[in-house]
Amino acid sequence: MNLKTPPAGRFITLEGIDGAGKSSHLEALRQWCADRGCEVLVTREPGGTALAERLRELVLHEPMDPLTEALLVFAARRDHLVQVIEPALARGAWVLCDRFTDASFAYQGAGRGFDLALLRTLEQWVQQGRQPDLTLWFDAPAELAAQRRTAARSPDRFEAMDTAFFQRVSSGYGARAAAEPKRFVRVDASLQREAVWQQVLSTITSRWPAL
Ligand code: TYD
Repeated sequence: MNLKTPPAGRFITLEGIDGAGKSSHLEALRQWCADRGCEVLVTREPGGTALAERLRELVLHEPMDPLTEALLVFAARRDHLVQVIEPALARGAWVLCDRFTDASFAYQGAGRGFDLALLRTLEQWVQQGRQPDLTLWFDAPAELAAQRRTAARSPDRFEAMDTAFFQRVSSGYGARAAAEPKRFVRVDASLQREAVWQQVLSTITSRWPAL
């Protein structure tokens, strides 16, 4: 009989407007956790399962109305949670997820102006109370993020939006952060990469000092 309590999993999400630079810190964080002997799962939304990756392709590249877009990102999320995230947390893994539901509130809600009450209903249906333990919000001015994006490959449906759209997305993240100050930590992503990483690291070590 195994009486050992399984280690507690951690669910950490990374958020921010396109070009804020969050993705470059995902790999560093994965390495940092792995060095401490934790099982780490790096994943992303929309995506993270074969089905959700197919939905991602549609959401990022096919024209559609805002309700269809919202339903597809939550459908992808449901599959991702059931197939990947919940099982990983149950076995004690650290799940590092590039975007999650805050992106739906920021992009579909604040960016596109989609009904927030409906998004909250979808959030409850799909997540059944599951929320990240920590959300790192990489916050950078929309103009700076736009400059960083110009070096990137050809834009998808979101990356092609104008600065005003990304300012609304940013304020959407700000509203989510204000509503859940314990879960959210704002990282100043306008700084140099090393300074941004130090903020990430100090957030993790102050939240989980035993690591
Ligand atoms: P992103 O995570 O930036 O991936 P990449 O670095 O490969 O471009 O792209 C995902 C896009 O999907 C991003 O523009 C935000 C958008 N998105 C939503 O609109 N709603 C959501 O719920 C999620 C998770 C993402």
